[in-house]
Amino acid sequence: MFYPEEIVQEVRSRADIVDVIGQYVNLKKKGANYFGLCPFHGEKTASFSVNPRMQIFHCFGCGKGGDVIKFTMEYENLTFPEAIKKIADDVGYKLPEVSETAEQKRDNDLRTRLLDINKRAAVYFYNSLRDPKGQTGMSYFRKRELNDDTLRLWGLGYADQSRDGLYRYLKGSGFDDNILRESGLISFSERGVYDKFFNRVMFPIMDANNRVIGFGGRVLGDGEPKYLNSPETRLFDKSRNLFGLCYARKSRKKFFILCEGYMDVIQLHQAGFSNAVASLGTALTEQQCRLLKRYVDDILLTYDSDGAGINAAKRAMPMLRAVGINTKVINMKPYKDPDEFIKAMGIEAFQDRIDNAQNSFLWLIDVLKQDYDLSDPAGMTQYTNEVASRLSDIKEPLERENYIKAVAREQMIDYGSLRKLVNHMGDIKERNQSPLNEHIYTHTSFKEKPDKKQKKETAIQRSEKQLITWLQEKPELIPKVRDYILPEDLSDVTMQKVLIMVYKETPVNEILDTFRDSDDDYEKVAAMFNGNLLSDDTDEYEFKRGLLDVIRNIKLTSLNTKIQNEVDPHKLTELFRQQSDLQNLEL
Ligand code: CTP
Ligand code: MN
Repeated sequence: MFYPEEIVQEVRSRADIVDVIGQYVNLKKKGANYFGLCPFHGEKTASFSVNPRMQIFHCFGCGKGGDVIKFTMEYENLTFPEAIKKIADDVGYKLPEVSETAEQKRDNDLRTRLLDINKRAAVYFYNSLRDPKGQTGMSYFRKRELNDDTLRLWGLGYADQSRDGLYRYLKGSGFDDNILRESGLISFSERGVYDKFFNRVMFPIMDANNRVIGFGGRVLGDGEPKYLNSPETRLFDKSRNLFGLCYARKSRKKFFILCEGYMDVIQLHQAGFSNAVASLGTALTEQQCRLLKRYVDDILLTYDSDGAGINAAKRAMPMLRAVGINTKVINMKPYKDPDEFIKAMGIEAFQDRIDNAQNSFLWLIDVLKQDYDLSDPAGMTQYTNEVASRLSDIKEPLERENYIKAVAREQMIDYGSLRKLVNHMGDIKERNQSPLNEHIYTHTSFKEKPDKKQKKETAIQRSEKQLITWLQEKPELIPKVRDYILPEDLSDVTMQKVLIMVYKETPVNEILDTFRDSDDDYEKVAAMFNGNLLSDDTDEYEFKRGLLDVIRNIKLTSLNTKIQNEVDPHKLTELFRQQSDLQNLEL
């Protein structure tokens, strides 16, 4: 969906940024601005500011900033058009219909109808569970210790033993065979038309916005297949969705718990761990990793403690690492999965396991043992070599050292010899350097994050920012300043663009709009407008002196650069003249 600029401005002008942010953050007025605790990073003192006049926010702690749309995008994890839609809905503004191509329209219609079918099917299964015929399904869920709230929250249901109950129900609601075939819920074959799911308890699969896009159905006993899932449809893409994400994304927890099964997610949420998610009956995909990264930087893995689960975890770690997610592993022994663990050990015990989740590198070293016969000295040597090889892939000396210590301690390998072996291997690898050796399991500490620290600001950059914000606050100065400072006098392109717009008295929000495609510039500009405000009681005389200093600074620097690069004597003379004129500058 693409909204034209007028619509964007219309929506923005109807929402007050203080009201919108005030719904989520406790804001207190201090001077002209409002302050509160930043919702984007953990903090104890309020460094998150909202400027009602410019309708922008900025956090002095983490650097996030922007307008009401940007806030909504960041806070709700929405795309730009989604945020526009949400704000418009909240303020009761009806967005105009946006024209779509014939093909887009057909596709949208198809998706809408498939959503409708899935929703109706979910209601059908939900009601069947509560029907006398759903007795077996209900007692199955009871046996698995799910309470009423949980059944409701997840819309759990039952597909009864009639072979075509859903088919008849949907036909009765007016859907034709073609669209029902596309829904994946009905099988058409020479032998007849049947419901895909029967005699199974049903788990609706919802997208991040709580819309049912497919189902998983579990047999009540030991039959095969244990779980049957909706096939992929225009709606249901298993590689791009996660079970439980619709609730986990609202949990506002710093990390997610990634497990293998539907039942695990549901049981964890029932126990209060509302940040649990699972993939959809397939191995974790790259798209799912990227999706997860939109919400969290840290993930605790609770894969089954059997061989398949261990392999799944081994596979998931580097994939998550590749998108910048740190992983740790929750030990569930002696139980197989979180569902069984929670039921046997309880909530506190699980919290304890979370608190003691193991660093994924050390976990891997531990798991590697299974591949060797450690009772045999030769096997032990091979294992030690493997361990040393992985340790030697850690490039950072201190980090390597810490890991060597930890591994020696945990695996009871002699520290001195391990260290020697690791460094020896490291030297060899260094010599035959291959970029592929880069190890991906390291850097797993939760704290360590590639902080995008702003580069240190130079005095001239500070002057430029000062000038721009002052002009924005006091547009009456523009005609005078414009004679001295040309956009090209500023040291960086972003600032030049901003100055051009400020000279035209463009509102801050519209200036920000032009940087929407570059996160860095966007935040830089938002920070600037929020950072250099004049206080109400600034003395007029002081201010003028400050302004003159700033203008002089900027112009002098710019002239100096030009003088250095100029060879034409005539032009040089002119530049020198301008430079000396600066001494007598007055406004
Ligand atoms: N799965 C699947 N198809 C199967 C088996 C499993 O899609 N035939 C998926 C399901 O999403 C399931 C997950 O893999 O939730 C984990 O499977 P498994 O560990 O076998 O089941 P549990 O989640 O432990 O389910 P339960 O506790 O109901 O036995
Ligand atoms: Mn299980």
